[in-house]
Amino acid sequence: MLPWVVVYAEFGPVKNEKLVMKRILITSALPYINGIKHLGNLAGSMLPADVYARFERLRGKDVLYICATDEHGTPAELAAEAAGQPVQDYCDQQYERQRAAGEGFSLSFDWFGRSSSPQNHAFTQHFADRLEGANLLEERTSAQIYSIDDKRFLPDRYVEGTCPHCKSEKARGDQCDSCGRLLDPTDLIDPYSTVSGSHNVEVRDTTHLFLKQAAMQGTIRKCVEAATDWPPLARSIALKWLDEGLQDRAITRDLSWGVPVLQNGKPRPGFENKVFYVWFDAPIEYIGATREWAEANDKDWESWWRTDQGADDVSYVQFMGKDNVAFHTVSFPITMLGSGEPWKTVDRLKAFNWVTWYGGKFSTSQKRGIFMDQALEIAPSDLWRWHLMANAPESADAAFTLEHFQTTVNSDLANVLGNFVNRITKFATAKFDGQVPAAGSPGELEIKLYAELDSHLAALTKHHSAMEYRKATAETRAIWAAGNEYLAEAAPWTAIKTDPDRAAMIVRTALNLVVISAIIAQVFIPDAAAKVLDAMGVPKGNRNWPNEPASVLLDALPHGLAFEVPEMLFAKIEDEQVQEWSELFGAE
Ligand code: MF3
Ligand code: ZN
Repeated sequence: MLPWVVVYAEFGPVKNEKLVMKRILITSALPYINGIKHLGNLAGSMLPADVYARFERLRGKDVLYICATDEHGTPAELAAEAAGQPVQDYCDQQYERQRAAGEGFSLSFDWFGRSSSPQNHAFTQHFADRLEGANLLEERTSAQIYSIDDKRFLPDRYVEGTCPHCKSEKARGDQCDSCGRLLDPTDLIDPYSTVSGSHNVEVRDTTHLFLKQAAMQGTIRKCVEAATDWPPLARSIALKWLDEGLQDRAITRDLSWGVPVLQNGKPRPGFENKVFYVWFDAPIEYIGATREWAEANDKDWESWWRTDQGADDVSYVQFMGKDNVAFHTVSFPITMLGSGEPWKTVDRLKAFNWVTWYGGKFSTSQKRGIFMDQALEIAPSDLWRWHLMANAPESADAAFTLEHFQTTVNSDLANVLGNFVNRITKFATAKFDGQVPAAGSPGELEIKLYAELDSHLAALTKHHSAMEYRKATAETRAIWAAGNEYLAEAAPWTAIKTDPDRAAMIVRTALNLVVISAIIAQVFIPDAAAKVLDAMGVPKGNRNWPNEPASVLLDALPHGLAFEVPEMLFAKIEDEQVQEWSELFGAE
């Protein structure tokens, strides 16, 4: 084998101590089981978490990227009812669909679990016992909406009505989608059952376990104030909640599907027909899924989650949409800290705004928008991945439109990256026999390119570390564009006629830049990047994040290395396709 100048494996000194940590635990908010997720869900949690996981792995970190389906609560029960299936069957089937969709998008989960797992049941019951022992749980009788026609209580999404805050008429019992406030079903004006549509409802007393969140106000505020690593969106949402004052919340529900309410391993008297609230057990599944992974792979979960078992060395990063922030910055930390046990809590939290469908809402029922499985049927996953990250809803909501998708794909991927790779590999194949040429030495243009690449790579690494995806994609694109600019200026097709050594220098530099372009592209467009790196003959072990001066990186390929022209990377999206998709997906 030819000697490699660089093994892109090392990463240099980083200033922030947290970033130096070798092990990184990454969780993406768990998608509800009720059907395949749309592009907005993907863009706001699973996809950016995947990009971050890939980046840190390429930097040599020991990454554990965990996700799972969120299978309990009213979303699951209602969807199963609508599908006419037993909840368990419905969940089994939908789990498989979501797992397959995640695979289709090359989401590199180390484990994709299920919140209905025995592991999660056990942890959820364990936390409840610990909270009770810490005097943070209390049985309280409170008023709930009861449907006389349905002969049942109507928790959360089983009841809808008018929002008392913004007067939207479609507020759900647990949350108003219009103004984003969390609600108690009894807050609703003119409530009705979503099971039967009946308005024949009344308020009845029922007993639930309440988590005394107010008692934890001071502890949680200290954590949030100390969490200077959290991006501003997450911090401001958490502080707003704390400023409003934490409310005690019921963590059980009158439902049959979910984690049974046990007390020290035995059914809790009076709670035989109740289960834990979905928002109590769902985040615990981050730990549950880690244990599922550990048991399936003969690993240990404690060193990731227990600070007394080594988790002090872990940097824990969470990804989620903005509606999830309160649960992750307040409720889940209360569960963990309240247990009195040494659990690992979040170090960095990345929250996203919404991706909208032409400025409006994605909607399953109204067939508005594109869902993950449909997206894969019409275009390769790389195209979606790139577009969604390049337009990540970071500082505000971002509208998805098919026209915009077409523009991003055609200009960034086809014209900039595709064109660069194609031009130089074809030319080099024709003129240098499909081998990296050895002749020539760097001139003025190369020195200029080195400086440019050094500064782009430093910025790119910084943006990835900071989880700033609009900036990271812009910097990636700038590196690809630098390739085209360099070729235009250096004009190897002219040089070859008079000065073959000069042409060799240009070609070698550009081929190395192709490799760097693909290496940094891996996090966003893993399939296309692999095609390029395979064609360029770069071994798998040499595809790590670049951390060398550009002068070294741009002469890293062994002289004489054989390469091929990669097959076509990106087909342009035509106007007719946009037209057709618009009709299919209700674009307006
Ligand atoms: N299923 C919830 C949603 O889609 C997110 C759950 S995140 C977890 O909004 F932390 F609870 F798991
Ligand atoms: Zn509202």
